[in-house]
Amino acid sequence: MQKILIKNIQELCGIVMESTLKFRAGKDMAVWERMKDAYLLIEDGKIKDFGSMGVLPSYDDAEVMDAEGKIILPAWCDSHTHLVFPNTRELEFIDKIRGFSYEEIARRGGGILNSSLAMKNISEDQLLEEAEGRLKEVVRWGTGAIEIKSGYGLSTESELKMLRVIKRLKERSQLTIKSTFLGAHALPHKYKENRAEYVKMIIEEMIPKVAEEKLADYIDVFCDRGFFTVEETERILEAGAKYSMKPKIHANELDYSGGVQVGVKYNALSVDHLEFVGDEEIRSLLNSETMPTVLSGAAFFLNMKYAPVRKMIAAGLPIALASDFNPGSSPSGNMQFIISMGSILYRMLPDEVMNAVTINGAYAWGLKVS
Ligand code: NIG
Ligand code: FE
Repeated sequence: MQKILIKNIQELCGIVMESTLKFRAGKDMAVWERMKDAYLLIEDGKIKDFGSMGVLPSYDDAEVMDAEGKIILPAWCDSHTHLVFPNTRELEFIDKIRGFSYEEIARRGGGILNSSLAMKNISEDQLLEEAEGRLKEVVRWGTGAIEIKSGYGLSTESELKMLRVIKRLKERSQLTIKSTFLGAHALPHKYKENRAEYVKMIIEEMIPKVAEEKLADYIDVFCDRGFFTVEETERILEAGAKYSMKPKIHANELDYSGGVQVGVKYNALSVDHLEFVGDEEIRSLLNSETMPTVLSGAAFFLNMKYAPVRKMIAAGLPIALASDFNPGSSPSGNMQFIISMGSILYRMLPDEVMNAVTINGAYAWGLKVS
């Protein structure tokens, strides 16, 4: 057994030793545990004990590290990313500067469909190599756990390719990685006149194959204006539930889409984006276990309306913040930047932001300690 004792920590932050991991909501969002002059005992990579240096028990068999003058805090739990992608899409920025909206860019063949075209022509190994480089980068910025979605394949073959890459990342990386099947990210061109056929393919072909290879922990749908309807979302989530894929969905980024309500109805772990949230959405979330997750990078880079975070916290809701790292709407996986935006764009207090990127992010994964 490997035992490490870290002594003389100037400030130990954000450590929760509860039997059940519970998110921080409402006023509790502003409570982030802190202990000055502390010690921390780690056994086989897990926190075993912590406390004030004044009452340090004798752990004679432990390797000792001195953290004088240092702060220790949890790594970020980034609960929403699209980190596996084939090409960067910086040209869309010029279209954005010229005034085209997210939906207009998508209609011009940009956006998600542009990535899906490139996905066809990239090998699994190349995709893996590039994603691994990005993972190394986000670790340097403090991310310790990360969720990664498919959704640039939009065909059975390419969706499986993306998910196999995520599986290989899980095997090769020291990070905790979770995978999400997002076949319903956008409607491919060839199904433009026949969207029912694409939804049928997701339900009858993609989901069973993804489940057979055990490639996804969660299932996602982009439930929003111009993408997938509430009715389509329901059918896809029901199909995923048959294989125990828990929902985490993209909702209410472009409109009051009904995405929040359908997420709550299907007991989604999280509903993500939330620029369009009013009293009805807040009421629905208050009666749920679903984590409202705000993706500040997407709102910033798309220069869109911001989620009403202060109103949501005042109503007693929790908030998680995640990077949404992707080649289009949020081309950065730097959670430190997301943290800054939490305060600057949404007026979240530092302790609220810290809870949003650690314990609430973990809850948005369904991570529970038992
Ligand atoms: O979360 N909103 C939908 N999907 C992604 C966008 C991905 C992309 O633009 O490539 C998002 O922002
Ligand atoms: Fe996203």
